[in-house]
Amino acid sequence: MYNSGTRSMQKNQIQTHKKRTQTTDKNQAQKAQKKQAQTTDKNQTQKAQKKQAQKNDKKQAQTASENQTHPADKTQVQTKENGKETWRAGNMLYPLPAVMVSCARQGEKPNIITVAWAGTVCTNPPMVSISVRPGRHSYRIIEETGEFVINLVTEKLTRSCDWCGVRSGRDYDKFAECGLTPEKAQELSFAPLIRQSPVNLECKVEQIIPLGSHDLFLARVVCVHVDRAGMHEKGAYDLGSAGLITYSHGEYYALGKKLGTFGYSVQKQKKGNPGNKARPEENPPEMKNPEKKHSAKKKAEKKNLQKKHSAKKNPQKETSGEERYRLSTYPKRNQTIK
Ligand SMILES: Cc1cc2nc3c(=O)[nH]c(=O)nc-3n(C[C@H](O)[C@H](O)[C@H](O)COP(=O)(O)O)c2cc1C
Repeated sequence: MYNSGTRSMQKNQIQTHKKRTQTTDKNQAQKAQKKQAQTTDKNQTQKAQKKQAQKNDKKQAQTASENQTHPADKTQVQTKENGKETWRAGNMLYPLPAVMVSCARQGEKPNIITVAWAGTVCTNPPMVSISVRPGRHSYRIIEETGEFVINLVTEKLTRSCDWCGVRSGRDYDKFAECGLTPEKAQELSFAPLIRQSPVNLECKVEQIIPLGSHDLFLARVVCVHVDRAGMHEKGAYDLGSAGLITYSHGEYYALGKKLGTFGYSVQKQKKGNPGNKARPEENPPEMKNPEKKHSAKKKAEKKNLQKKHSAKKNPQKETSGEERYRLSTYPKRNQTIK
């Protein structure tokens, strides 16, 4: 049985429930709105980041190609009788090694920059140089840490090498994107080696020399790692079979056939080797003309006489056959090599 008290209690309960439901609804709506706003914000941030990365990629690729594919300026072309064009001054020293330079800062993911302006500059102490534009992400890392690793590039690594040269570490984790493995260096604190590269040179920066578009990092090689798989039995490294690549005028190339070894041009004659000859041609041009042949013979006789004479005068100056040959055949200073 309902009485008026019960009814009013029920009414109150219903109102309280209604109010509570309304409040919950309101809260839920507010929450949903907040979530929606957050998601929109997140999406917008992600979109903005993506847009920025795309912008950076475009800029990066542009500066990379500006850097590498216009080595000499052809705007002032002069064609000469010798069949050559003369260009305005520019970079035309090719082929070059294109290397992957790895670097890292404490607490950050390591990075890789592709560098073609790289070279050996001293044997003892072992010194190398790399030239890097100050705007590169890697520039600051190398400048701050004073370290980097030069990783030689094989045919298998060429695609990654190119990719690391047109994308910035500001926007990508290049090791992860290329499926490469950073490995702890022996003498350096931060910069890692790239495991997949067969030769890694750990380098410590000694000087930074501003040159213009690029700054030159002059560095000492403090440790070298060489993949055993590419070694000869004698322990020397067989770079030819390692599948290393070279970079020339905006293009990557595999190495071609081996043409000789250091000093082969002055080594004793072996079967199939033209021997101690500065030129390998069968008929050196002067031998084609019999008159010239005669004068060449005369000249040689005169030279021999002079040699004998000077040997008598300075007996202590005796040199080995090979050395004598080297001295007599090598172009002297200011002598043009044809
Ligand atoms: C083949 C090749 C060679 C390059 N050589 C150099 C170089 O010598 N110096 C340089 O500053 N940039 C060079 N670049 C451009 C940089 O590698 C490129 O700008 C890279 O994205 C920079 O990466 P980071 O911003 O992560 O440092 C080269 C690029 C390529 C593809």
